[in-house]
Amino acid sequence: MTADSGYEGAVNDFEQARQETVRYHEELYAATDLGESGTWLAEPDPLLSTALDLVPDDRPTVAYDLGSGIGRHTVPMLRRLPPGSQVYAVDLLPSALEQLADAVPAGISTVVHTRAMDLHDFDFAEPADLVFAFSAIEHLPRPGAVRDLLSRIRGAMRPGGVVALGIIADRVEIRSDGSRRPALLESDLSIDTSREMLADVFADFTVADVQLRPAEVEEERDGEHYTLASTLFDWVGVAP
Ligand SMILES: C[S@@+](CC[C@H](N)C(=O)[O-])C[C@H]1O[C@@H](n2cnc3c(N)ncnc32)[C@H](O)[C@@H]1O
Repeated sequence: MTADSGYEGAVNDFEQARQETVRYHEELYAATDLGESGTWLAEPDPLLSTALDLVPDDRPTVAYDLGSGIGRHTVPMLRRLPPGSQVYAVDLLPSALEQLADAVPAGISTVVHTRAMDLHDFDFAEPADLVFAFSAIEHLPRPGAVRDLLSRIRGAMRPGGVVALGIIADRVEIRSDGSRRPALLESDLSIDTSREMLADVFADFTVADVQLRPAEVEEERDGEHYTLASTLFDWVGVAP
């Protein structure tokens, strides 16, 4: 149990984990186009469609894509939300947001605002109809910081607003010889901790969808190939 939060969850060396997050994503985004087959940027995760189906479509809305990367979910959001909607794309990496801005389709009437910043320091400019965060919140420095972000999300939601989170939990790295080591990331959330936080922060929300899916991504660090295995925990809630 961590001293500051009371939540279970391994805390890696933060500086090392942050460095690895930046290295991995900068290299991947520089080498990969949005929609490129054979990569996880090939298509949006189905969680987005589940969330968008619940967002009001009879008026302009305000949406946030937290940890947006190069826009795998932001771009379809821009296409799908009602005309006049605003979408805030937030990511640590200015270069990712530049790529995202270049991918915005011409002639659409939704507006994207990019914010290059750490989610740890992020707060909401205006109340939200949709907050979407896929494989993002676990990059905060410790489980207590993740919980604080969830509380800020809770405070930003309009009545009927939708929160959709894809949390990569219980991560482990499997080397080619089959041996395992803990994944190098900022807050290694477990499924149990994630459930506990969500039940606590969003106690008055209607839970619209919960799914657990096994996930595997091939990665490389310091010339060594490994499989990053985890459980993808999808959670969708609707504000009262
Ligand atoms: C696994 S990627 C997911 C990107 C996007 N959500 C998607 O599904 O395509 C995680 C993203 O979170 C960003 N990120 C990591 N730590 C962050 C932080 N503390 N604040 C803001 N963004 C962060 C990374 O730069 C990266 O683009």
